[in-house]
Amino acid sequence: MGKIYVVTSGKGGVGKSTVALNLAYALARGGRRVLLADMDAGLRSLDLMLGAQNELVFDLSDVLEGTCTAEQAIFPLRNRPGLELLPASQNSASLSLRPQDIRALFARLKDSYDHIFIDCPAGIERGFRNAVSAAESAILVVTPDNVSIRGGERTFQLLTSEGINDVSLIINRIGRSPALSTDECINRLELPVLGFVPDDPMVGRCQSLAESTLEEDCPAGDAFERIALRLLGQQVRYRIPYDSLIHRFKTHFGKASHAKAD
Ligand SMILES: Nc1ncnc2c1ncn2[C@@H]1O[C@H](COP(=O)(O)OP(=O)(O)OP(=O)(O)O)[C@@H](O)[C@H]1O
Ligand SMILES: [Mg+2]
Repeated sequence: MGKIYVVTSGKGGVGKSTVALNLAYALARGGRRVLLADMDAGLRSLDLMLGAQNELVFDLSDVLEGTCTAEQAIFPLRNRPGLELLPASQNSASLSLRPQDIRALFARLKDSYDHIFIDCPAGIERGFRNAVSAAESAILVVTPDNVSIRGGERTFQLLTSEGINDVSLIINRIGRSPALSTDECINRLELPVLGFVPDDPMVGRCQSLAESTLEEDCPAGDAFERIALRLLGQQVRYRIPYDSLIHRFKTHFGKASHAKAD
């Protein structure tokens, strides 16, 4: 029986969809049955990132409104074996979906997968509450800046009030400036860290071509692979990418190593 994660953030554009997709595919490549559920109604993106936008017929709203079965809406990705996509509706009217219906659907889907990742919309309104309603655990994605960290703090409070206490942290786009250090992010959020992902131009390049970062030899792909192993319970050494301009400066002049590893 699968575990259901919601990938969330509060602030938009920090990499929720990127993280959800890459963790889901890393686990699928390792032989797990994985469902990626897009719950960003009206602003879905995973279909584009996966190159499946012209092939989808039904979506989550169709399932919940009884127009089709879940099996008809779920799309197995030919270019990502083992990974299946449940698309969000293109129509924001689907925000009227009811959390109890979403919970019932995912409780049934859980039997067919080893892992389910729900991609949450930005914000903390109704779309957020719908997306977290079926989840057992949350992966909070932040970027190392004040606005994102504040969004993360607020989102953590809301997750707790929705009954989700298993929350872990991914710090994404490390190395982009201006930035807080990874230590500052961790100290402010005080959450168990699932991993660190460097800012990597390969991420955007792969997304625009609907290709997979995991199949490239690149730092972000490596980071996603290591995080996926941690989700399987493996002890994987943390590698913190250089995380500030000062650190980059020191590295350049030989005063610091490239990666602080614990
Ligand atoms: N580690 C990374 N390195 C470089 N670019 C990244 C990284 N992670 C995400 N991005 C880029 O950041 C942008 C936003 O990513 P993404 O769409 O995954 O964020 P999001 O949180 O899902 O956004 P939204 O809140 O709009 O749903 C994309 O252009 C993506 O390519
Ligand atoms: Mg997104």
